[in-house]
Amino acid sequence: MRFFSLAILSLISILFIGCDGSNPEEVNSDEDSLSSEQVQVTDMQPHSYANLQEVRTTHLHLDLTADFDTQTLSGSVTHSIKNLTESEVMILDVRNLEIQKVEIDGEETTYKIEGDDPLMGSGLYVDIKPSTEKVKIYYSTTDGSDGLQWLNPQQTAGKKHPYMYSQGQAILTRTWIPCQDAPRNRITYSADLQVPSELMAVMSATNPTEKSEDGKFHFEMNNKIPSYLIAIAVGDLTFASLGERSGVYTEPSELDNCVYELVDVEKMIDAAENLYGEYKWGRYDIIVLPPSFPFGGMENPKLTFATPTIISGDRSLVSLIAHELAHSWSGNLVTNATWDDFWLNEGFTVYFENRIMEAIYGKEHADMLMSIEVEDLEQENDDILNGEFPEDTQLKLDLDGRDPDVGMTAIAYVKGAMFLKSLEAAAGRETWDAFLKGYFDAHEFQVMTTEEFVDYLHTNLLDPNSIEFNTDEWIYEEGIPASCIKIESDKFAKVEEVAVQIHVVESMKDLGIVKEAWSTQEWIHFVRNIGEDVDVEDMGELDALFNFSGWGNSEIMAAWYVVSIEKGYEGIYEDLEGFLMEVGRRKFLEPIYQALADNGKTDWANAVYAQARPNYHAISYGTIDDILGWEE
Ligand code: BES
Ligand code: ZN
Repeated sequence: MRFFSLAILSLISILFIGCDGSNPEEVNSDEDSLSSEQVQVTDMQPHSYANLQEVRTTHLHLDLTADFDTQTLSGSVTHSIKNLTESEVMILDVRNLEIQKVEIDGEETTYKIEGDDPLMGSGLYVDIKPSTEKVKIYYSTTDGSDGLQWLNPQQTAGKKHPYMYSQGQAILTRTWIPCQDAPRNRITYSADLQVPSELMAVMSATNPTEKSEDGKFHFEMNNKIPSYLIAIAVGDLTFASLGERSGVYTEPSELDNCVYELVDVEKMIDAAENLYGEYKWGRYDIIVLPPSFPFGGMENPKLTFATPTIISGDRSLVSLIAHELAHSWSGNLVTNATWDDFWLNEGFTVYFENRIMEAIYGKEHADMLMSIEVEDLEQENDDILNGEFPEDTQLKLDLDGRDPDVGMTAIAYVKGAMFLKSLEAAAGRETWDAFLKGYFDAHEFQVMTTEEFVDYLHTNLLDPNSIEFNTDEWIYEEGIPASCIKIESDKFAKVEEVAVQIHVVESMKDLGIVKEAWSTQEWIHFVRNIGEDVDVEDMGELDALFNFSGWGNSEIMAAWYVVSIEKGYEGIYEDLEGFLMEVGRRKFLEPIYQALADNGKTDWANAVYAQARPNYHAISYGTIDDILGWEE
């Protein structure tokens, strides 16, 4: 909250900078490497200082050394640029970076850093010439480089070696690379890294499968990607193959479990290709990170980053991999042009993820997964409608002056997916699938705005097939349209019946419901639907019977902890402490700390948080600081 007013102030100044002489019509037309869509910037970039209308990076090369003693990356980034308007300045995004020197085509040049916004960072204004081809910036990261997390050996599985990984989305790449940090621009990249020789480095690029003797690694990403998909991880990594074009990286002690859990990855790639066309990125590998990773997964191209909390031992949480894989089309091939169009990334991906799950595990399972999401949507939609920004329940967002992270709600994800499911129902699956495949083909390696998508939808699906469909109510109106299709699950209906029984334990015994009787998704659904009449004593009996507090499956435990806190059931706190000390995934931490704060457990929460906070990523502790009222 405290930075919003600052953010607004500096946004006002950006608007002035961005508006000067940048009529897209006046842009040079002799572009060879930039397509016309890329040249025409018709909307402003709400979260970047970059003057994309004038100058654009086409390729960037990193030459960096990872120093684990000082916890810094230092060296240089060289931007190959395209000067569209004979501009004499190139503006890049930087945040909490130490800039040492800037060169253009090998000669030192002048620059200034303007604006100092806690969220957006600053503009790095580099003086260039109309003829400049390369801009090289010498720099180091700092301890304010929130896009990187440095772990000491204690925070890893092996406890012997340090670890480091990045998280770029949404606007954190600028905290470790000076760059035009806006999804509107697509670039290729390459990198030369020097790391300690006992560690392996991997990136969202071509990757090694072994350590190198001298700790040097070279990387290439030859497909154009937005800046938020540049990613790096360095640690005591090993690799195992999962199939012809897929594999997994993780610490040695975790490798076997990861390989077991991820057997179906190759099948998922095949299923995805059968649905919406060729996988365009060569290999699809996954790195299973230490538990502090703040997200479930991140779709870094060629190398998905994943939380170890999906390694459940029973392969029950792999829809997360289907999700990140699906982003190889929705998000990475066709990218949201701005963070206001975030639903184009996530809504399409949740839809596509569910289709992959259906193709491999069947409709009944896919419907259960979607039902769980829809439950989240209904809850979050209500919360947002009752909050300060009810307009955030529209698919098209207006995040000017706010952290783009606030768009990461079930609206973009699940309302977005249900919009597409409702379109599918209206068009029929065959027609819809052909349309969606055509959409990915027609826009590969490009960016997309909500308005462009709606146009494309009308021209290519709705009009030619005479389908009546109110797209506006989904995109520009608040809440969930009445026309939203319903997801039914017989299995879930049965689970709900049981969960609301007053004497729930007796009923379960009568019905012979043992642990194995239900799937993980049914158990998640059960825990979330435990009825109001179920009291603290029943909770204790449930726990004694099924050991929810120590179940081992992160989704079931996280849901159990929340209802237990709300009901005042005290049997969880030892297990919960262990969970909070270990896991840094914000999706789990946020509702748990919120429930603690709302239910008179603030002292306990603060005491545990004081110890656990150093294990969390800046993205996670930023959120928890707000909940518990901690100032950094
Ligand atoms: N791209 C997102 C993660 C993200 C979004 C990071 C916005 C930063 C800003 C990723 O694909 C994602 O959605 N992850 C989910 C899991 C998924 C199965 C819904 C997560 O991390 O919970
Ligand atoms: Zn996603």
